[in-house]
Amino acid sequence: MSQCLEMPRMQKDENGRTYLYVDGAPFVALAGELHNSSSSSLTYMDQKVWPALRPLHMNTVILPVAWETIQPEEGKFDFTLVDGLLASARREGMRLILLWFGLWKNGISTYVPAWVKKASSGADARFFRVRDQFGKPLDCISPFCQEAVRADAAAFEQLMRHLAQADPQHTVIAVQVENEIGVLGADRDFSKAAETAFHSPVPEQVAQQYGKGSWEEVFGRDGGEMMMAWQYATAVEQIASAGKAIYPLPMYVNAWLEQHPDRAGSYPCGGPIAKVMQLWKLAAPSIDCYAPDIYLDNFRGVCDEYAVSGNPLFIPEVRATKDSASFLMYAVGKHRALCFAPFGIEDLFGSRTDQLDSGVLAALNIGAAAFNSDGAGERLAAAYQMIGDMREIIDQAHREGRIHAFLEFHDAGTTIPLEHYDAQISYTGASASFFRPAQQNADRAVAGGFLIELPEDRFILCGSGYSVRFLPKPGETAVVGVLNKEEGCYRDGKWVPGRVLNGDEGYRIMLSDFPQVMQISLFRYC
Ligand code: DGJ
Repeated sequence: MSQCLEMPRMQKDENGRTYLYVDGAPFVALAGELHNSSSSSLTYMDQKVWPALRPLHMNTVILPVAWETIQPEEGKFDFTLVDGLLASARREGMRLILLWFGLWKNGISTYVPAWVKKASSGADARFFRVRDQFGKPLDCISPFCQEAVRADAAAFEQLMRHLAQADPQHTVIAVQVENEIGVLGADRDFSKAAETAFHSPVPEQVAQQYGKGSWEEVFGRDGGEMMMAWQYATAVEQIASAGKAIYPLPMYVNAWLEQHPDRAGSYPCGGPIAKVMQLWKLAAPSIDCYAPDIYLDNFRGVCDEYAVSGNPLFIPEVRATKDSASFLMYAVGKHRALCFAPFGIEDLFGSRTDQLDSGVLAALNIGAAAFNSDGAGERLAAAYQMIGDMREIIDQAHREGRIHAFLEFHDAGTTIPLEHYDAQISYTGASASFFRPAQQNADRAVAGGFLIELPEDRFILCGSGYSVRFLPKPGETAVVGVLNKEEGCYRDGKWVPGRVLNGDEGYRIMLSDFPQVMQISLFRYC
């Protein structure tokens, strides 16, 4: 890895598109997030994780650093594990995105150090907890507890201070602050401090944007959730800004998405789901972006919902299945995602001895198959290699508006208007299973990919499971013919041709079920 001193950063270009820059160049994190416990042991990483990642053509690993690990005793820090992770990532030629498991992880506070846990009992505890409507304490330190937020911010600051001196090569390119924040098991915090806030006027900054009054008066039925969003965002701002002041890496916050039963508290109440993102942005200017963890079927819809109002698409978690390759193509082709990371990535080419807790899976609406899907690794490895080798072509096509992405979801295809033609995309497996989303179809992966328009009626097709008919523009009488069709691959931006597809293979323009790249040139006759 080169010794380049330029800090990683997120920055908008002149068209308002945000890029993640690494070593001074635009970067897409072709990543994977590890299971929660994998990075707690360097031996486990060496034996089970790094070997399983090598075939995947990834450039980035997302892994947790826990508060309890770096500050086992109040006032004492230990970065041995962090240093070991940095060293092994460098050995593997991999960048890291660190997940700061501080006060909150999936709505609960299990990663706080023992000295914090021990001082969290009772309504007036030093680190007091969220209470439900019956006054019962939940397994979650309250975001209203200033002392807890200060302690987390101080620990996070130390982590960033350590990185500033231990990572001159910028192996770490971004940090996620906390993980899937929000209250689970109550529709807001009912601790004393929270009750006072709930019945008080909203803060001035909120009033300026949304109007004056109590949370309920301003936001009605959503008042509790809005208050929690504001409070968590304010706490995160305190934590992130303390770290950024020392070492300004890009920082983001991830969301456990709103889902059935769609009542705040059954998904974490106060986390940055789409409907509260504006409030989060107001309270937490140090956060560079908001990132969806996508376990829901409607991958396309979630991407479209998060890639709004200047928020770049950054996916730190998505199901690791055979659909991942098509999801990646859509995220990069449509939204020029900054990061794509299937969760439990080490499973794809590895073996796990333990199983994910069925309660966690049920709460997240995830089937066990999400983490155990045949052929998923090979498909993702091929897709990562393709995207990695095409990165500059893709970026240029985005800048020039010549890339068009599509992804199957309860539909049979789509028609894309191009400059000289219309491209009619049909998902090849769709007719057989039209009424079932492909995600639930055990036999095949979701179809999808992208098309890039090149000069002189040439096109790149990338993805899997679809066919294309190039049609003349409506009203035109010319017939569209194929001049040349070849399969192949890109290596470092250069086209390496494979077979020329003609005769039996030339009849239809069709991408196989396995991720593939093709180049086509067209002509018209009459
Ligand atoms: C979402 C969380 O953010 C991850 O840490 C992990 O718990 C996964 N769910 C899956 O279990």
